[in-house]
Amino acid sequence: MKTEILRPTSTEHFARAAALIRDGQLVAFPTETVYGLGANGLDAAACARIYEAKGRPSDNPLILHIADLSMLHEAAEDVPPAAAHLLTAFAPGPITVIVPKAAHIPPLVTGGLATVGVRCPAHDVARRLIRAAGMPIAAPSANISGRPSPTTAAMTAADMMGRIPLILDGGSCSWGVESTIVDCTEEGCITILRPGAVTPEMISAELPHLTVRMDAALVSADTAPRAPGMKYTHYAPRVPLTVFAGAGTDVVRALRIEIERRMAAGERPALIASNDTIMALSGLLPAAYTYNCGARGNQSTLAACLYDALRHFDDTDVTSLLAEGAGSVGLGIAIMNRLRKASGGNIIYV
Ligand code: TXA
Ligand code: MG
Repeated sequence: MKTEILRPTSTEHFARAAALIRDGQLVAFPTETVYGLGANGLDAAACARIYEAKGRPSDNPLILHIADLSMLHEAAEDVPPAAAHLLTAFAPGPITVIVPKAAHIPPLVTGGLATVGVRCPAHDVARRLIRAAGMPIAAPSANISGRPSPTTAAMTAADMMGRIPLILDGGSCSWGVESTIVDCTEEGCITILRPGAVTPEMISAELPHLTVRMDAALVSADTAPRAPGMKYTHYAPRVPLTVFAGAGTDVVRALRIEIERRMAAGERPALIASNDTIMALSGLLPAAYTYNCGARGNQSTLAACLYDALRHFDDTDVTSLLAEGAGSVGLGIAIMNRLRKASGGNIIYV
C-alpha cells in the first residue's frame, strides 16, 4: 500500500481524510501528546485493521477520540460526575477518562471491557478530522506495538509506511508523552492508570473531596496493571537502555564511570542527557553518540524529545544507551514511567 503524507491546510484535505475513515481505512494524525492511528470507532472491521497495522494484542483496548464534549454521549453512557468534571477542567487536553461504554461501541474497541477510554485532544488537526468524519475516532499511538510512540509525521512514517494510506502531518507534538489515563468508574475514588501531563496534583485540586491514587502497578512491580496496555514491554529502543536517576552531580559521576567501563570493554555506548550533563562529560564520547535533551530540570523539553531520543540511535552502530532520568514530581512522573518501561526496569538510583 502506498502511504501519502499530507500537511492538511484545506477543508478538502480534511474531507479526503474523513472519507478514508468512513470507508473503514486508517489515517494517522497528530495530537498534542503523540501521533494516533485512527479508525472509525463504531466500525469493528476498521478497528481490527488498527490491531493488524500495529501488531497489537487484541485484549489491549483502544481509546475513542472526540472533537468536543458534546460528542461524549456517542462514546460513553452513565458518565460519572467526576469524569465529566475532569473533562470540563482539562479537555481539550492530555487526559483520557475511563467510563462505562455506550452500548453501540463494538467490543473489539474496548478489548471486551464494559468501560471505554475517552479523550478530547487539543490539536486542531485531530479535532477537524474527527468533526469531518462525524464519529468518535478510535486511535492508539501510531507506533508498531512495543516501540516508542511517534511525535512527528516522520517517526509515524518510520513505523507505518506501506501499512496505511494516509498520515496527516501536523508538525511536532507539544507534550511528547501520552495522555494521563484516569479510571473514574469507582465511587469516591480516581485511579491514575497511566501518568501524563495532567498530574495527580492537578486532579486532586479539581476534585478535593475524592481520593486520587496511582494504580498499584505503577507503584509496585508485583501487581497487574488495570490498563491492559501497561503490562506490555513498551517504548523500547532497539538496543538496551540503562537509566541513571538522582542529583545532577551524582548522575554525572556515575555516568562517567559507566561510559568509561563500557568503552574499555569495546562497547559503543550513547548518552541521552541534559545539556548540563553532556557539557560536564564533554570529551568522553563523540558528539554523534550524545542526544541533548535541553537544560537539566526542564521536564517539558525532556518529555517533548524523549521518544525521538529513544529512536535516534536505531540505525547506528551504537551498542547500548545510557540516559539521565527526570525528577519524580509533576511531568517527571510520566517521564520516569516511560523510561522504566523503555529500559525494562533498568533504573539505577545514584
Ligand atoms: O495520548 C494518548 O492517549 C494517545 C493519543 C494518540 O491520543 N493514545 C494512546 O493510546 O496512547 P494507546 O492505545 O497507545 O494507549 C491507551 C492505553 C492502553 O494502555 C490501554 O490499555 C488503555 O489505554 N485503555 C484503553 N481503554 C481502557 C479501558 N477501558 N480500561 C483500562 N485501560 C484502558
Ligand atoms: Mg501506545
